[in-house]
Amino acid sequence: MTNDSATARGHGKLIVFGEHSVVYQRTAVACSLAGGVRANLSTMGSPSFHLQTINGALEVDERVRQAADRLFSTFQLDPKQLTIDVQVDIPLGVGLGSSAAMATAMAKAAADLKGLEGAAQRAAVDKAVSASEAVFHGTPSGIDQRAARGEGFFAFRSNGEGPRFQPLDVPSNTWLVARVAPASSTARMVQSVRRLRDGHPRLIEGLLDEFGAVADAGAEALADGDWPRVGELMNINQGLLSALGVSTEVLERACYAARDAGALGAKLTGAGGGGCIVALPDADNVEDVKQALEPLGDVYRHDLPGQSDNQR
Ligand code: MEV
Repeated sequence: MTNDSATARGHGKLIVFGEHSVVYQRTAVACSLAGGVRANLSTMGSPSFHLQTINGALEVDERVRQAADRLFSTFQLDPKQLTIDVQVDIPLGVGLGSSAAMATAMAKAAADLKGLEGAAQRAAVDKAVSASEAVFHGTPSGIDQRAARGEGFFAFRSNGEGPRFQPLDVPSNTWLVARVAPASSTARMVQSVRRLRDGHPRLIEGLLDEFGAVADAGAEALADGDWPRVGELMNINQGLLSALGVSTEVLERACYAARDAGALGAKLTGAGGGGCIVALPDADNVEDVKQALEPLGDVYRHDLPGQSDNQR
């Protein structure tokens, strides 16, 4: 062991276009959040695993332990012999990338304990985060993992040769995220899409192509700062997600509430089945859209791309 203790961060993410279709090698667009997870590891204190969230301390459940076991084994470390302190400052398990942020923070800190640097560090962190994400996501596309590095807006597509990452220079704007329903399991939602695709391969492949076309057009519109077009494409994306069966009545109602209050676009973000929607207000109706969403759940304002933490 090179260091006795280490601290590192991982970032949350907001998918603007292409969740689910990204699992099938179509383009998606996301932005890293300023918020995320900070992990502190020490070999000195008495071994423990402490998880602090915005809603207080959380019991470390079996799945988190299993993910941590896989992650630390990449570094030949036993989590039962470490003092692990994890602080999460984004809502957990609602499509904002908390699991990849947590894995990234712990993996970077573990790499630091081991004194890994440069390419060796990046390779070990990638491998460890993939192993951890497989526990939560089943067959992750890798987009959450990429966003956890904290790199602003980007287009992402994975293919047989590995992920293709393209940074996008997007003008700063205000985005609203509303958590309107309890979390659902990403692995379960990904599996339900797979079942639908297995049952209707030709139809669903056609739909997935449309997802890709929407995300490609969305990446362009974002880079141009063409917000009305971004909003329209978000609404089209929501229709496609609905066709895939991952939207719910509560998520639809929240999207319509945001649009009725003047949002240019609104869609679910993450795996769906519950969790969050993202709305893009127009410059002069941020407060109206926020107020329309507040009765439906917690609303978070993000100025993206941004350095500052979430604002309520
Ligand atoms: C989850 O944040 C996004 C999904 O597309 C799954 C994945 O990309 O791994 C639903």
